[in-house]
Amino acid sequence: MINDIQKQILKLKEENDVCILAHSYMAQEIKEIADFTGDSYALAVKSAKVPQKTVIMCGVRFMAETVKILAPEKKVILSNPDAGCPMAEQMDKETISLVKEQYPDYAVVAYINTTASLKTICDVCVTSSSAVEICKKLDADKILFIPDCNLGSYVAKQVPEKEFKLLHGGCPTHAKISESKLLEAMKKHPNAKVLVHPECQPDVVQHADYVGSTSGIVNFAKQSEDKEFIIGTEISIAEELQYACPDKQFYPMSKDLICPNMKATTLMDVYGCLKGTFGDEITMDEEKRLQAKKCIDEMIRLG
Ligand code: 13P
Ligand code: SF4
Repeated sequence: MINDIQKQILKLKEENDVCILAHSYMAQEIKEIADFTGDSYALAVKSAKVPQKTVIMCGVRFMAETVKILAPEKKVILSNPDAGCPMAEQMDKETISLVKEQYPDYAVVAYINTTASLKTICDVCVTSSSAVEICKKLDADKILFIPDCNLGSYVAKQVPEKEFKLLHGGCPTHAKISESKLLEAMKKHPNAKVLVHPECQPDVVQHADYVGSTSGIVNFAKQSEDKEFIIGTEISIAEELQYACPDKQFYPMSKDLICPNMKATTLMDVYGCLKGTFGDEITMDEEKRLQAKKCIDEMIRLG
């Protein structure tokens, strides 16, 4: 049952021609008022197609920037100005320009969790759901994969015919999942399938029955004949699945697997965005936007 704030939000959203996009890590009450929820890839592709003039992105900053890059005519609002992604802030354009000089014959593949500035000097973007396919299809044998070395390492194993150079970036939330904790959970739940996000460390990923994006994990678990699952990603995914599939059991790797940035957005923030009293409108220099768009267009073309 929807609550009073949710009712107000749905009303304001219709009256003001606003589309609300919510990443899979948002709280359930936010997903309930969203027009569309999904992983980074789905949100990026969807954002360019929605008919509304304004988009509120309930997620983190690089996701709102991606919407602005793909749909510059729309007013794009990040639901909470403090919601950044620490991994996206780990590498900047200046540093990577220097690294590129050291590896001139490598194509630069950027995880979408990067700033718009950094995207301007990358060859192609990838998301967790599209990285393997895109690296396979990419017309390059040598790949400099930034910033996530865990995702990069996973992709490199799936694409052994290519040479990968990885840098030391990664997600602090997924870094909390250790192999020893996973082995403990596997011992406790011997019949559970292990589903993990590729941002987890390689010694965790090696035990997985399924490795995929946030939406990939949700879809896999919903369609599976199995009844028990250990979930190796942010806690919201285990919560969403437990709510959606009451006849199955979902065991989060840890109760404190919370991304504070994704959890920064509240229903009142979304209400404030609709009232014009909260949120951060994304603006971008046109030259920068066009330059950053090239690697996202390439992602959509190959993905
Ligand atoms: P997805 O592309 O799987 O939604 O991942 C985004 C993210 O930031 C996971 O930590
Ligand atoms: Fe960034 Fe990690 Fe949070 Fe995803 S879970 S938004 S990669 S900090």
